[in-house]
Amino acid sequence: MREAWIIDAVRSPRGRGKPGVGSLSHIHPQRCMAQVLNGLKDKVGFDPADIEDVVAGCGSGSGDHAHDIARMSVLDAGWPISVTGVTLHRFCGSGQQAVNFAAMGVMSGQQEAVVAGGVEFMSRYSPIHANGFHANNEHLLKLHPQVPQGISADLIATIEGFSREDVDRYAVESQRRALASIEGGYFKNALVPIYNDDGSLALDRDEHPRPGTTLESLEGLKPSFEGMGAAQVDGYPKPFDEMAKDKYPDIDRVIHVHHAGNSSGVVDGASAVLVVSPDYAKAHGLKPRARIRQAATAGTEPLIMLTAPGPAAQRCLDKAGMTKNDIDLWEINEAFASVVLKFMKDLDVSHDVVNVDGGAIALGHPIGATGGMLIGTAVDTLERLDKSTALVAMCTGGGMGTATIIERM
Ligand SMILES: CC(C)(COP(=O)(O)OP(=O)(O)OC[C@H]1O[C@@H](n2cnc3c(N)ncnc32)[C@H](O)[C@@H]1OP(=O)(O)O)[C@@H](O)C(=O)NCCC(=O)NCCS
Repeated sequence: MREAWIIDAVRSPRGRGKPGVGSLSHIHPQRCMAQVLNGLKDKVGFDPADIEDVVAGCGSGSGDHAHDIARMSVLDAGWPISVTGVTLHRFCGSGQQAVNFAAMGVMSGQQEAVVAGGVEFMSRYSPIHANGFHANNEHLLKLHPQVPQGISADLIATIEGFSREDVDRYAVESQRRALASIEGGYFKNALVPIYNDDGSLALDRDEHPRPGTTLESLEGLKPSFEGMGAAQVDGYPKPFDEMAKDKYPDIDRVIHVHHAGNSSGVVDGASAVLVVSPDYAKAHGLKPRARIRQAATAGTEPLIMLTAPGPAAQRCLDKAGMTKNDIDLWEINEAFASVVLKFMKDLDVSHDVVNVDGGAIALGHPIGATGGMLIGTAVDTLERLDKSTALVAMCTGGGMGTATIIERM
């Protein structure tokens, strides 16, 4: 099979995902994605007419994210009308899946040049879906009861024995690393500043990180999902904590340890990665930065939901004929602190090589955009640290995990 090469990867800054507060929140998601597409085009210097498809992940299919946001962003960017766009949904793994599909298209010989990434403006909706991931399907609710992801994160901490101090300590380190990478200018290579329609600058830096986060500053934060776990929500048979106990009868109760400071930040943003065939790169004088070696997914129990990054990463390694010892750096999405703690425990990987630039706890997790952002960060960090191989993995709604192995070139 031929190779799929990453020529470059860019992203918008992550703006705080609160309407009127976040510096991107007044911009339409299509406009932001369009500016990121043009940022990639200008940085690399490719002809957009060559792009056979733009694959965008998006975790919301309604409101301002409705329909095919990939094609609408292509049109908004002023790219030729011959360039198609497709939008896909794998919950939080949508953007990573977009890159994986782009790689598959190129590796199979069906496509030469594809742009993949995603977009999400969380300021435009609540990430806690009122009608649940089962979307009001009573049959599915009985077969596979599912709860909001914050309850799942707390359930992981309860079962694994991660204390409030464990998850807070992880979050403090995420903030410290993100700040060091911001101060070191390490994200600048990938950042595409986002402008308002009048040409003024909207945002050119990540605005979610909180410098000065310490164990003490987190101590006073109340668990965010305790009330939600105890409440009887319409359309559900029982409060969420009771549903979790029914599925995991060995626990006495769900211990709520996650809060605003150790959960992924609610933010707005977009990402784009150029994936091409070796023939295309050579014909256009493009220097590849990395190859996509392998992609994989895995499914686990959907109520606990967020435990599949480990199995997805393991499957990805197995399919590539590699072991964890072949991986220099790991980007594991910080959906919640317990997700990464469990991943490191499952695969017995040291925090020293996981999320070395911090992650979504500090920087934010713009659902559909994050996978493209993590892959871009992995490419930048491999180069900066002179390493060879990175594995990116994410947990997703519905109890799935996505994984990608990339190799620096
Ligand atoms: C956990 C969550 C509900 C918190 O939301 P929120 O309450 O709106 O969060 P905020 O950013 O407003 O922060 C709440 C408080 O915590 C404080 N805080 C947040 N981070 C902090 C930090 N690092 N240090 C100190 N204080 C902090 C804020 O200052 C704020 O206090 P204030 O109200 O006095 O200003 C939200 O971040 C969330 O849902 N995250 C997960 C998103 C998700 O599920 N994504 C999908 C993953 S699978």
